[in-house]
Amino acid sequence: MLPDVFRGPWGGSHCRDSLVQTIRKCSCSQGCCEANDQYIEQFKDTLSTCVPKAIAGFIAEPIQGVNGVIQYPKRFLKEAFQLVRERGGVCIADEVQTGFGRTGSHFWGFQTHGVVPDIVTMAKGIGNGFPMAAVVTTPEIANSLAQNLHFNTFGGNPMACVVGSAVLDAIAEDSLQKNSKEVGTYMLLEFAKLREKFEIIGDVRGKGLMIGIEMVKNKDSCEPLPAEEMSQIWEDCKDMGVLMGRGGIYNQTFRVKPPMCITKQDAAFAAEVFHAALMRHLERTVAS
Ligand SMILES: Cc1ncc(COP(=O)(O)O)c(C=O)c1O
Repeated sequence: MLPDVFRGPWGGSHCRDSLVQTIRKCSCSQGCCEANDQYIEQFKDTLSTCVPKAIAGFIAEPIQGVNGVIQYPKRFLKEAFQLVRERGGVCIADEVQTGFGRTGSHFWGFQTHGVVPDIVTMAKGIGNGFPMAAVVTTPEIANSLAQNLHFNTFGGNPMACVVGSAVLDAIAEDSLQKNSKEVGTYMLLEFAKLREKFEIIGDVRGKGLMIGIEMVKNKDSCEPLPAEEMSQIWEDCKDMGVLMGRGGIYNQTFRVKPPMCITKQDAAFAAEVFHAALMRHLERTVAS
């Protein structure tokens, strides 16, 4: 079961690694997370009943991207990796969205969970627009590939590698991880203020420049905001100069994942535009 502490069956007020927690309440004491324990029980059930005893591997994004910036409870990935390894599986972190400093606190998303994966997949950010992807793994797993025929037509392309190397330099020289942390935190807290003001913002979450704003009909039901209303807010933002991403199983979450070089002024502008789009939505609702 997806350990989604906002929409899932379990979740509380300090489950995730974010400055902003869900609107759900819980009575867990420090160091305990009942939601995590419940989701881990579900994970154990899956391993016992739905897959063979020996498993090949387990792949997860440290923060789910396309599914709407879902952050698992803090200990979930660590405990899940352990359960997978006990059954002989390798643990794979998909860092395509979370990698390269975007989360602000760490260069890789998996570091925020205190785990070391056996395989890490990366793409997108590694090329800053240039089509490129890479896989990093242990010598042991890499050697196992040498036993089989495996090739990529464009694998190891020298030009792509130069681009990737230059991007790594730019991330370091321009302190983009630090910028992600500072500007991202500012933006996250600005959006969190809007959650207090607007009934249709159910959740605000994320880390660094990876932020999700989950839209609902109202905070009591937490039903997803209908698609037409989402689209209208989205279009209004676009018309005012801000392109937002969308995701989530019902397409109910705005995904904010701007280039890591944006400034605080850019972030303030985005928050103002979103605020204006929500005001328009409110006016439409009152009028109808
Ligand atoms: C988390 C994640 N993993 C993998 C991919 C696929 O990456 P690629 O197109 O480089 O194979 C994407 C693409 O959107 C992604 O968001």
